[in-house]
Amino acid sequence: MEKAIGLGVVGLGRAFTLMLPTFLQDERVRLVAAADPRSNAREMFSRDFNAPAYEALEDLCGNPDVEAVYIASPHQFHAEHVRVVAAAGKAMLIEKPLAISLADCTRIVELAAQTKVPVIVGHSHSFDGPVLHAAAMLNSGIFGAVRMLNALNYTDFLYRPRRPEELDTRQGGGVVFSQAAHQIDIVRLLLGGLIDKVRACTGSWDSSRPTEGAYMALLTTHDGAFASATYSGYAHFDSDELMGDVSEMGYRKDSTAYGAARSRILHMDAAREAQLKIAGNYGGKDYRFKASPATPYHQHFGPVIISAERADIKLTPEGLVIYSDAERKFVSTPKRPVPRAEVVDELWDAVRLGLDPLHCARWARATTEVCIAILESAQTGKDVALQFQVAPSRPVPNPDERELRDEYDH
Ligand SMILES: NC(=O)c1ccc[n+]([C@@H]2O[C@H](COP(=O)([O-])OP(=O)(O)OC[C@H]3O[C@@H](n4cnc5c(N)ncnc54)[C@H](O)[C@@H]3O)[C@@H](O)[C@H]2O)c1
Repeated sequence: MEKAIGLGVVGLGRAFTLMLPTFLQDERVRLVAAADPRSNAREMFSRDFNAPAYEALEDLCGNPDVEAVYIASPHQFHAEHVRVVAAAGKAMLIEKPLAISLADCTRIVELAAQTKVPVIVGHSHSFDGPVLHAAAMLNSGIFGAVRMLNALNYTDFLYRPRRPEELDTRQGGGVVFSQAAHQIDIVRLLLGGLIDKVRACTGSWDSSRPTEGAYMALLTTHDGAFASATYSGYAHFDSDELMGDVSEMGYRKDSTAYGAARSRILHMDAAREAQLKIAGNYGGKDYRFKASPATPYHQHFGPVIISAERADIKLTPEGLVIYSDAERKFVSTPKRPVPRAEVVDELWDAVRLGLDPLHCARWARATTEVCIAILESAQTGKDVALQFQVAPSRPVPNPDERELRDEYDH
């Protein structure tokens, strides 16, 4: 195997901790530096990885060991951080959403095109094995064209400890920027990418958390396909129940924890809640690294059912159930030993093999455009027509082929 990619991280928060099991286990990447304004996070990083941690992103970018930068800072900083990293000529893995305005998304798309640095936008749950598997099968044409799709997710998102701006839509808060970024990415990948119009409603039902906690969107394509995307983060019903009690991260869920998110932050003011989030983050006093034991399950983002001309397909945490004319059959999706290895696949393919990423900046701008259209349609009560939609830049590889390639590579 070629040399591991030297990865620098900007933003040592929750997103970083969720990617850490991947970075620790995947031999294709090596953590070589970090940048974060929090000194305790920097100290922990330097101790854990025997590597420098800087206050300023510019210093991180000046480190010659850094080949690619994982931008995991809060969304409102993504556009500025991309500018700094692109100027240094480094590749980027940018957390979703790409940015919180279309103007910023376009600036990122243009920078990527001008500098030709590889840009991958993720993690998002459209990297999940069963989503890629379904997309590859649909691409093969065996089930005919996709006609309809239903995606649904009920979580406790709004009641997890938050920074104040995460509850302010103008600063990128709420479930549309944070969670539709996953769900719409999945829907677009399975529908072929090209959404024509969006009609949506959003719900802001808790005045103490004054941002969108729920949405329902109807998406249509030029060729007549349609999809509904529904999300609630209000910590009541939990749709993991419909996924065999497997959590978003692919673990068996503890059903006795009902109500825990809401009660944890009950009667807390905004400052104490932000402190609680920081305390549980990397470098914080309550942070404990959880070595993730291998699980038989894929990560997921709630139930998804696709209706194609000749079959319905249901995504599960283990694979796909295919309901065709003559039979109902389960097809297992090969599970990689490293969680979220699919994200490193795209980074590796772009940085080492020079391939175009599927989750490129244009792709992510198109997903963000749908998210922003959900907010606009909810306000105006009208359909919103889209202009930045793109199809996947290359066919989605079948996970079986990837397994074979992995075996061959090592
Ligand atoms: N893909 C996923 O599963 C996932 C999960 C969580 C968050 N995210 C995304 O990751 C990003 C960060 O969210 P989070 O929940 O980790 O936030 P967070 O508050 O947990 O962490 C943010 C980190 O960035 C640091 N930071 C703040 N301002 C900064 C700046 N100007 N420059 C550099 N670092 C700065 C903070 O000190 C903190 O360590 C968001 O865009 C979010 O949507 C993705």
